[in-house]
Amino acid sequence: MPSAPNPFDSARHGWLAVEVTDELTFATLDLDDESPDRTARVNGWLDAILRGFHQSQPNEGFREEWLAAARADRAVIRGAWATPVAGLSNEVPVATFGHLVKTMNAGAETMPAWMITDVTVAPTHRRRGLMRRLMTENLEAAVAADVPAAVLTASEGAIYQRFGFGPATRESRVRVETSSRFRLRERADDGGQVAIVPSGEAWPFVEKVFARHHELTRGSVGRPGYYESWVKGYDWEEMSEDRKQRIAVRLDADGAPDGFVVYAMKRPGDVTEVAVRDLVSATPAAHLALWQFLADIDLAEVVTAAAPVVDHLTHALVNHRVRRVTAIQDHLWVRILDLVVSLEARPWFSDDSLVLRVEDSLGHADGTVRIDATGGRATIASTSDEPDVTLDVETLGTLYLGDVSVDPLAQAGRISGSDEALRRFAALADGSPSPHCSTHF
Ligand SMILES: CC(C)(COP(=O)(O)OP(=O)(O)OC[C@H]1O[C@@H](n2cnc3c(N)ncnc32)[C@H](O)[C@@H]1OP(=O)(O)O)[C@@H](O)C(=O)NCCC(=O)NCCS
Repeated sequence: MPSAPNPFDSARHGWLAVEVTDELTFATLDLDDESPDRTARVNGWLDAILRGFHQSQPNEGFREEWLAAARADRAVIRGAWATPVAGLSNEVPVATFGHLVKTMNAGAETMPAWMITDVTVAPTHRRRGLMRRLMTENLEAAVAADVPAAVLTASEGAIYQRFGFGPATRESRVRVETSSRFRLRERADDGGQVAIVPSGEAWPFVEKVFARHHELTRGSVGRPGYYESWVKGYDWEEMSEDRKQRIAVRLDADGAPDGFVVYAMKRPGDVTEVAVRDLVSATPAAHLALWQFLADIDLAEVVTAAAPVVDHLTHALVNHRVRRVTAIQDHLWVRILDLVVSLEARPWFSDDSLVLRVEDSLGHADGTVRIDATGGRATIASTSDEPDVTLDVETLGTLYLGDVSVDPLAQAGRISGSDEALRRFAALADGSPSPHCSTHF
């Protein structure tokens, strides 16, 4: 019997980077190709993502919003499609993988970051090495594109270490009582003000604040395009217009935006809650002023929010117990790909010269380098000198943004060297500010 034509025949459809095995076709989709066949595959890819993350099937409006955002980001989407069986259509892939390139604030410089996202494998195809294959080739593509580090956020905690990613920033969930017990030691009085802004007018303010925040905040990564339609009132979860969302912008004494908060009112039980969806500030004063604004919302007793793990709000309160941390989770995972570029982009905290050996089973960051640090910056160069300190690339990712210091990692047996070398390495690598990433992707 003649075999059915392969619907992914690269000659007919012009798929990018196609590879066909007995059971699967791997391909990258061209988001600018509007042919019906390609549109069906892109829609299938999107269905697979939503299925993988347990969301509803997309409606037409969602598809359009998603495609516009993915195009704006120049996102690259790749998948694996199974050979059709029993006459079923196979537009929905069994594995998905995506990336986009933005920037990350590494503390001393902002450098390109390869943001991996939309990693899913269908339950019918788990544990056969599909994700390993897509991840391995994707990291090779990042190296070929000269991007010094890859980042992701993980829904599970034990998967990505094996590919060299380390959890590098954390995020708190806080519940803040806004009864009369909420009082700042000093009410912000720097001539700034908070304005409630209609969602149709908020985006230019939000964009400016985030750009300032990103430039100043170690651990911040650029925001994907879907943030824009979300701020403008599109609810990605409900797949419709969001009529509950409110936005307030903080303006400094000169009228320049230096903070914003996106929130909605909720009444999950007997307590009315201000549920903060996003709070970003570019100055410490704006952060406190936005919290004062949230506390001043009447007919609500608590504010819930994601917050930096080290949050100066705690120390600005008269009674710090009104701010209760309800959870702390890892957030941004970092995978160093280029040792020299990455290590030169981060700050160093003592003047010293030390040889670091990094082990990387995938090879990308494997090497021995000398860190020559002075005045907060370092030059990094390959060396054949004996290492003072040795660690693997996952541990380097965890250490990279300064959320974790050298000592606990050494005590856990993950950094080796003499006591003296470890003490010098800690003096070099450990230092504030603590990182924070407010971007979710
Ligand atoms: C994508 C996913 C389903 C795994 O896909 P998969 O094709 O079954 O994974 P593979 O078969 O390629 O496994 C690769 C390795 O990861 C391990 N692994 C896979 N899923 C794991 C899990 N949930 N927990 C722990 N280890 C896991 C495998 O044991 C294997 O290890 P080994 O090669 O060292 O033996 C899984 O990672 C997942 O559910 N991810 C949730 C989505 C997510 O976190 N996305 C984050 C970026 S958006």
